[in-house]
Amino acid sequence: MTQPSRPQDGRAALASFVTNRLGRANARPGPATAERKAPAEDSIQDFEKLTGYRELRLQRSAADLIGLGNPFFRVHETRAAATTRIDGQAFSNYSSYDYLGLNGHPTVSGAARKAIEAFGTSASASRIVAGERPGHLKLERALAEHYGTQACVIMVSGHATNVTAIGAILEAPDVIFHDALIHNSVVTGAQLSGAQRRSFAHNDPASLEKLLEATRHEHRRALIVIEGLYSMDGDAPDLAAFVELKRRYDCWLMVDDAHGLGVLGRTGAGLHEHCGVDAADVDIWMGTLSKTLSSCGGYICGPSALVEYLKCTAGGFVYSVGMSPPLAAAAEAALSVMQAEPERVERLRRNGHQFLALAKKHGLNTGASLGLAVIPIIIGDSLKAVTLSDRLFKRGINVQPIIHPAVPERSSRLRFFMTSEHTPEQITQTVTTVAEELSALETGATLIEQLMARRGA
Ligand SMILES: Cc1ncc(COP(=O)(O)O)c(C=O)c1O
Repeated sequence: MTQPSRPQDGRAALASFVTNRLGRANARPGPATAERKAPAEDSIQDFEKLTGYRELRLQRSAADLIGLGNPFFRVHETRAAATTRIDGQAFSNYSSYDYLGLNGHPTVSGAARKAIEAFGTSASASRIVAGERPGHLKLERALAEHYGTQACVIMVSGHATNVTAIGAILEAPDVIFHDALIHNSVVTGAQLSGAQRRSFAHNDPASLEKLLEATRHEHRRALIVIEGLYSMDGDAPDLAAFVELKRRYDCWLMVDDAHGLGVLGRTGAGLHEHCGVDAADVDIWMGTLSKTLSSCGGYICGPSALVEYLKCTAGGFVYSVGMSPPLAAAAEAALSVMQAEPERVERLRRNGHQFLALAKKHGLNTGASLGLAVIPIIIGDSLKAVTLSDRLFKRGINVQPIIHPAVPERSSRLRFFMTSEHTPEQITQTVTTVAEELSALETGATLIEQLMARRGA
């Protein structure tokens, strides 16, 4: 029997072992070219001295020593879908946002091709100066109609949409209240705005209420931001409770429905359908085109004044290129297929539920996941999560480990993205393999012990 090591001891042992093994000089890669002038040993201008860089190298070196492949930046030889091919080998794939199997759908690809023929591949410059293309307006109309809002603006990146929109709406005397697990783009937008930023406990309206009660009066305008389906945990908020609070405390409510569109509600309309709440009760609907809509970019749907204001003042729109015409056309076509074929949403739900039920049966920790598009298997220890991902990869399953700081310390996980196109057999085989490999990992020597055993090798 092996003695379980305390995680902190393990981390410290690993760090000192790798540092000793590598030594100061060897911890860095050699100069890339002969011409490159090496910075002075103590120069702050050395990029290798950037905060966090050494930590990155340390993690990579530790993984190399244990013989783990790098699970990130793998080159896929096929489109993002339920299966993939890497280095000529087929994999079950749980690392794509193609929730409804629309990436490569003939209608979607056909619309993109037609747009390329008519408009080329680029909008060339900001829409303010280079002008609109019909596909921009068509997609904005379709999204506004979807949420029943007066208007919509699309931008070239989902992340940039949150950053620039929140940055433009709020300023110093204002406040933003956001869920503790909110996406990085919302936090970055809040920082850009200069507004006060306050976070409340995840999916906990009571925690928000306490904050509102104590601090709302200190600020001018207030924005509450929540997500539709949380991207790391696969759970959803009680929208009605947040609508009630935003009314009572005179705030705007914004929903980032990046992972909710196509997933939540009977027809995949989004968080409002899932919660049986009128979409009009939300002031700002935000989403991305890169998930269900199998394109690239983001959108803000809301009142005309808001959209007009963003189109004329938000830096990420005014000073950035308009959306590439084929991407706008693909997103618009994907939205119409999604709306016409709710059976895709039903298939996704069946797949997610099957995965979740089986995982629970095997005693795997799926946290608060609803068993829809996002299902985490929470492991805890980062190294263990990375090792499990590596072992699954060797058995034909591609799933990414998510480690700190993307999730809180000690809650590292494997995150499975489900699609409507996974098959029941694929799901059963995947969950069974995860359970087998996790059990083998837990009964084997600890990772630190494996590392120490290799020390003499
Ligand atoms: C909740 C949420 N909002 C915004 C974004 C940014 O979207 P994009 O990747 O399309 O830029 C993401 C990305 O995954 C997300 O999960």
